[in-house]
Amino acid sequence: MGYVIAVSGKGGTGKTLISALLIRHFSRKCPVLAIDADPDSNLPDVLGVEVERTIGDVRESLTGEEVREFEGRIHEILVEERDFDLLVMGRPEQEGCYCVVNNILRVAIDSLAKNYDITIIDCEAGLEHLSRRTTRNVDIMLVVTDATKKGILTAKRIKEIANNLHIKFKRIFVVVNRITPELQEQMEVSLREEGLDVIGFIPFDQIVAEYDLMGRTVFEFPDDTPVVRAFDGVVKRIEEELSGL
Ligand SMILES: Nc1ncnc2c1ncn2[C@@H]1O[C@H](COP(=O)(O)OP(=O)(O)OP(=O)(O)O)[C@@H](O)[C@H]1O
Ligand SMILES: [Mg+2]
Repeated sequence: MGYVIAVSGKGGTGKTLISALLIRHFSRKCPVLAIDADPDSNLPDVLGVEVERTIGDVRESLTGEEVREFEGRIHEILVEERDFDLLVMGRPEQEGCYCVVNNILRVAIDSLAKNYDITIIDCEAGLEHLSRRTTRNVDIMLVVTDATKKGILTAKRIKEIANNLHIKFKRIFVVVNRITPELQEQMEVSLREEGLDVIGFIPFDQIVAEYDLMGRTVFEFPDDTPVVRAFDGVVKRIEEELSGL
């Protein structure tokens, strides 16, 4: 056990939704660590968690040596919910401090993740997090795309960069989100042409938009809503992949 699943992709494609659905699924079964690694954090909202302190907040007061000591105190900013724990990276107040925050985050992932059956990381949009290597030791990298060329190209770039930087994602899969039936076949063709492995298609679902607007959490989604039903298929495949690692 101690698997790490990271979720990345182009901005606004549904990384946070997919991360939250993973947390919803796995937290019903086993100990889960959720990490919001996006400085424009919104995973806590989708999960309905109040966060008082982030790594970014704490970092302000730390020097080099203290950063290392902070490893042992990371639990101070870990939010413990009934079914999962949540760590939020946040944003340092001063510009240009991301490398330290990222460093702490990486250490946190390495030292904390082994205490949980599953760690789920909601990454920031794009490719930055890969070049800064906050996402090493990932078992499954899920790259979320919408039905756009740009989304597919971002997915392709993430795969290429990971190869170039020798980042070891044991598996890398694409999740196509907000798909409509008319576009699915074309998407399958386009992704195949780019050499990307698709693990599932998630439809546009009115419930997601409605709940988002009403400030209701992903845990309140009905089990039979289209997004959850489609996600059940994705998660089944993820579990098969994990058991084969
Ligand atoms: N399948 C879906 N059906 C309906 N609405 C969706 C679906 N997926 C995502 N959304 C909505 O689209 C918006 C963007 O989704 P989300 O925040 O998960 O994307 P993101 O990739 O995390 O964005 P960012 O790059 O800003 O972090 C949200 O308002 C979300 O509620
Ligand atoms: Mg997000």
